[in-house]
Order: sequence, then C-alpha cells, then structure tokens
Amino acid sequence: MERKPVIVVQDLTRRFGEVVAVDHLTLEVVPGEIFGFLGHNGAGKTTTVRLLNGILTPHGGTARVLGLDPVHDGPALRRRTGVLTENPSLDERLTGRENLSLYADLYGVPPGEVPRRTEELLQFFELADRADQKVGTYSKGMKQRLALARALVHEPELIFLDEPTAGLDPVAARHVHTLIARMGHEQQRTVLLCTHNLVEAQKLCHRVAVLEHGRLIALGTPTDLARQWVRSHRLELEVAPDSLPMAQAVLQTRWGISNPLLENETLILTGVARETIPDLVASLVTAGVRIYRLTPQEPTLEDVYFALHGEDRAPGPPPLGILHAGPDTKGRKR
Ligand SMILES: Nc1ncnc2c1ncn2[C@@H]1O[C@H](COP(=O)(O)OP(=O)(O)OP(=O)(O)O)[C@@H](O)[C@H]1O
Ligand SMILES: [Mg+2]
Repeated sequence: MERKPVIVVQDLTRRFGEVVAVDHLTLEVVPGEIFGFLGHNGAGKTTTVRLLNGILTPHGGTARVLGLDPVHDGPALRRRTGVLTENPSLDERLTGRENLSLYADLYGVPPGEVPRRTEELLQFFELADRADQKVGTYSKGMKQRLALARALVHEPELIFLDEPTAGLDPVAARHVHTLIARMGHEQQRTVLLCTHNLVEAQKLCHRVAVLEHGRLIALGTPTDLARQWVRSHRLELEVAPDSLPMAQAVLQTRWGISNPLLENETLILTGVARETIPDLVASLVTAGVRIYRLTPQEPTLEDVYFALHGEDRAPGPPPLGILHAGPDTKGRKR
C-alpha cells in the first residue's frame, strides 16, 4: 500500500559559519516507521531535528513535515510533533504529574482531557507510583521516561527522540527501548530516533540514515545496509571430532587458513566473503569432512557503521583465518 511520507526532505542545508552542519540532505520517512539517525558527534543529527521542527531556518533546500513547511508553519507543526531533546529540562520542584499537566496546558490539550492523558502516560511509562513525588527525587532513568511522556502529552503524530537512552544503565535503556518499540510498533506512531547506540538502532529501527559531516552516506534497512557494506563474514563451523584434522588441513591448503580459532570444538573462521561460502563447504565435503553445523554470523549495524567509516573495529584478537580467495580480501580487519 502506498503511504504518503510524513517527512520529505530535499537538499536541506544548514551552515554555522564555516561549518556545514547539514549538507544537501535528501530523504523521506513514511508513517509508522521508526527511522534512525546515526553519525559521529557533530554529524548533523540534532541540527536536522531542529530544522524539521522549525526551530532553525535552513540555508537551502526544502522540508515538508506532516504536510507543513517548518519554516512557515512552525507553531502549527510543533503542536503535532513531540520532541525529546538531547537535554530535556524538567521542573524538579514539581511532581511528575504536575510536569505533565503543565506541558499539556502549554500544548493546548483541552483541560477536561488533561487528567486522563497524564494518567495514561504515567501508567504507560511506569511512573504512576512516583507520580506525586517531586521530580528532583527521581533517578535519571525515571526523569528520562518522564521526558518521553512529556513529549507525548499532546498525542503527536510524529515523535523526535534525540538520544533517548544516553546515560541510562542497561536495564533502564532496555526499558526505554521496549517503550519506544511499543510506541512505534503497537501505536503506529512515526518515530525519528537519533542515537549513538548501534544495538539500539538495530533493535528498533525499520530504516536508518547515516550522516557524516552533514551528508547522508547510507540509507536503508539494517539488513540491506549489512548486505551492501559488509562483505566478509564470521563463520562458525562444527565438524565431527574425527573430521577435525581433515577440516583444518583443507582450510589450510585450499583456503590459506592456517590456524582457525577453535572454540568449544567449533572452528571460527573470520573474514570469509559471502560468495565463497558454497565453495568452502563443497571442498570440505569432497574431502570427507562431516559437517555438523555451519553458521554464518549475520553482520550487525555496528559492522556497517565501521565499514562505512573505513575504520577497524575495537582492538581485538589479531585477524585469524582471513580468506585470500574471495573478492573481498580487502575488507575491514577485526
Ligand atoms: N547553534 C550552533 N552554533 C554553531 N554551531 C553549531 C550550532 N549547532 C550545531 N552546530 C555545529 O553543527 C554541527 C552539527 O552539530 P549537531 O549538534 O547537529 O550534531 P549531532 O550529530 O547532533 O552531534 P552529537 O552526536 O554530538 O549530538 C557541529 O559541527 C556543531 O558544532
Ligand atoms: Mg546531537
């Protein structure tokens, strides 16, 4: 089914002095999508969010958000979007409930609606039992959940979340992930999520855009990007114990892998080009190796991110078993 995009950006550009913070950005976001914005510090993610909400004026290009022009229709647009900024400021002297009510008033929620709306959000974000305590007594995770609730108090159609889990412990972050997923997947809201957390993006986002110095350098589903950018794989190969010497011999003589890592009776082969997997299997079978299991590890968004930026992964063990036969022998090292 054809869905009208919620965000249409064409050649959007914004400078700060010499710095081109957003550089001819072109993309579309469709309804119900959780769309990720990735990129190094200073890549232009927050600037784009501000442009799309009419907080900043572009120096070039156009944007339509919910059918409106952020430059001319900023106030009308902001009544329909919810924004969790990088550093949300809550009034610590007020209770959680009061913070939400205040925002509801500010965003023109009909007074008769406010108690129901705030109660629902407090329940949804699991803050109901602390709702009547001052926000100054909340933990960081609770404040972040309250800030998320606040961004939703006027029931926006489109939600911008700028690093919603920055600084949260893994448990609190996972909690926020569940809530974002429910907002997107169950409530069919459109979410634009800026994040440095690649696992978070992989888990939540239907599609991601990667920015570098304001420019879009990759756009697609995590799976598509992995196919496109990550060409060498890590394989786990489990063979019958009596086949192990033959497997090692074939790997060495035929494929130049002299010392594949052996973990729990399983050979770990790294840097294997996807295209060479069938031949590799065939050569092992022909030599009489009895294969119990061959598991290619799916590349992650983290692999994509490092491949895109042409950087090695975090320091790890030296490269083992790099294949020299595939088309992708120049791939990144581990
Ligand atoms: N108000 C401003 N005045 C001057 N320069 C700015 C301003 N806002 C952003 N910039 C610059 O624009 C560039 C993009 O910044 P932006 O905050 O959009 O990046 P980001 O991708 O959100 O980074 P981070 O991951 O660190 O939040 C940076 O070089 C930043 O210094
Ligand atoms: Mg930012």
